[in-house]
Amino acid sequence: MTGHMIDDAAARLRAAIPAPPELLLTLGSGLDGVADAVTDPIDVPVEDVPGLAASTVAGHAGVLRFGHLEGRAVMVQRGRVHLYEGHAVADVVAVVRIAAALGASGCILTNAAGGLDPSMTPGDVMVIADQINLTGTSLTADLLPDDLPFVDMAAAYDAQWRAAACATSIGPREGVYVGVRGPAFETPAEVAMLRSLGADAVGMSTVLEAIAARAAGLRVLGISSITNVHGPGVPTSHEEVLRAADAAAANVTRLLLEVLRD
Ligand code: HPA
Repeated sequence: MTGHMIDDAAARLRAAIPAPPELLLTLGSGLDGVADAVTDPIDVPVEDVPGLAASTVAGHAGVLRFGHLEGRAVMVQRGRVHLYEGHAVADVVAVVRIAAALGASGCILTNAAGGLDPSMTPGDVMVIADQINLTGTSLTADLLPDDLPFVDMAAAYDAQWRAAACATSIGPREGVYVGVRGPAFETPAEVAMLRSLGADAVGMSTVLEAIAARAAGLRVLGISSITNVHGPGVPTSHEEVLRAADAAAANVTRLLLEVLRD
């Protein structure tokens, strides 16, 4: 999406909502229920927004929901799109760029992720301390602000938000998220490699959106629901991922409401 298309999409949305969002909240696999906590919801199907791509994955409805969480105006992305569906990087980061064009100052990226640390349990929630982009791709200059072809990622995940998220009553852990392209879940050799790189959880989203968000000057909070934990002889299934994320959704909702309250 060119900058012009982003502006067109933002203009279309501005006409549909009473006030611009302060925050973008992107919901990962199995975390769609978090959107139920939004008050005064206004739903805009992604088909109605020029240039936005719809996700093809089960459990990813393509809707932008505008409303409030703890009194803050939010824009919730239900159904992000992924590289593994064949979508381009431009499509993956479009909603983040639109949120920035609407004047949002922050972005909360949630996802389902596989645990690499054997001490993890499915259902755990991990606050993202930092990321590794192993998707094999990244943003190109046409997707970045004209004045910022290089993006500082030295402190990509906002320190204050991380601390607030870690202090919530659900007692999350904190760790490094590695983003891969998918769609295959990791082999044992890849799990060993990702651990040796310093990653604590692996997933197929978030890292490109975080780069787009930082390029646009948005504060970023990242939350992973750990849906499966990699270990010797442990298979990984999409059904298991959705089931565990569903169970974690209530905890993720609580964490977000507590962070936004302060
Ligand atoms: N690997 C990659 N992506 C994932 C996983 C995983 O184990 N679980 C949920 N998303």
